[in-house]
Amino acid sequence: MKTQARIRFLVILLTLAGWQPSFAFQQSSLYETGKRLIQIAGSDNSDEIVSLIDPKIDIDTQADILKSFIQVKEGLFNIIGKNNLELFNVIKQGKFTYFILMYNNKFLFIRSKTNDKNLITGTFSLLNSNIGEKLALGRKVYKMKCYSCHGKYGKGGIGPNLADNYWKFVKNEDDLKNVIENGKKGTTMIAYKAYLKPEEIEAVTLYIKALKGKEIQNAKKPEGDKIDIPFTIIKN
Ligand code: HEC
Repeated sequence: MKTQARIRFLVILLTLAGWQPSFAFQQSSLYETGKRLIQIAGSDNSDEIVSLIDPKIDIDTQADILKSFIQVKEGLFNIIGKNNLELFNVIKQGKFTYFILMYNNKFLFIRSKTNDKNLITGTFSLLNSNIGEKLALGRKVYKMKCYSCHGKYGKGGIGPNLADNYWKFVKNEDDLKNVIENGKKGTTMIAYKAYLKPEEIEAVTLYIKALKGKEIQNAKKPEGDKIDIPFTIIKN
C-alpha cells in the first residue's frame, strides 16, 4: 500500500473513533484523478482507491465506493484483462463524472461522481455506452486523415490543437462538423466530405469532441476563443 492510502486508512480508523478530519487530499486535476484511477484499476491493490475518495464523506458511503470499485475492476478484467488499460479522457456531464478508458482501440466508461477538489464522492459503475463504437470509428478516421496535421490526440501541429477548448473557426457544435465537411478555403484544411462517408464525418466529429480537455504533453498553444463544445456520453 502506498503511503497516501495508508494515511487514509488511519484517517478512516480515527474517524470511526469520532475524530473529524480537518484536511482533504486534492488531486491537481480531474485528469490526474483519472490517471491514478486507471493505475489502481490495473494494479493488485484495490484499497489504494481510498486515497482518491473525499475523506469528508461518511464511512458507509466510502465503504460502498470501495466495494463498487472492486466490482468495476472485476468487470474490466472480464472484458479486457488488466494490462491494456489506458485513460482516454475524463468528462463531466450533469452530476456524473465519466472516466473514458481505451483498450485495443475500443472504449469503455466508468461513471462516478467527483467534487470540486477532483476527489471521488460516489459509487463506481461500468458502462458500455453505444457511443464507444462511434468513438472507435472516429479514432480510426482521425488516425488516417487528420493525425498528420493535428497530431497525436489532437495536440496540434501544422493544424491547430483540437483537444483544448479554444477554437479559431468553430463557434458552436454545428460549426465543428461544418469545418470538417467543408474545410477552410485557402488553407491546408480541405473539405473532407469528398473523402469521407457521412457516418465517418459524424464519428470523427464525435471523437474530436471527446478529446476536449485531455491533458497532452507538448501540446500546441491554444488559438482563438474559448468555447465549450459539449460531448454527450449518455443521451437523456
Ligand atoms: C494537411 C493538413 C491538415 C489535415 C490533414 C487536416 N487538417 Fe484540420 N486544419 C488544418 C489547418 C492548417 C487548420 C487551420 C487553418 C487556419 O488556421 O487557417 C485546420 C483547422 C481545423 C479545424 C478548425 C479548428 C479551429 O480551431 O477552429 C478543425 C475542427 C479541423 N481542422 C479538423 C480536422 C479533421 C477532423 C481532420 C481529418 C478529417 C483534419 N482537420 C485534417 C490542417 C489540416
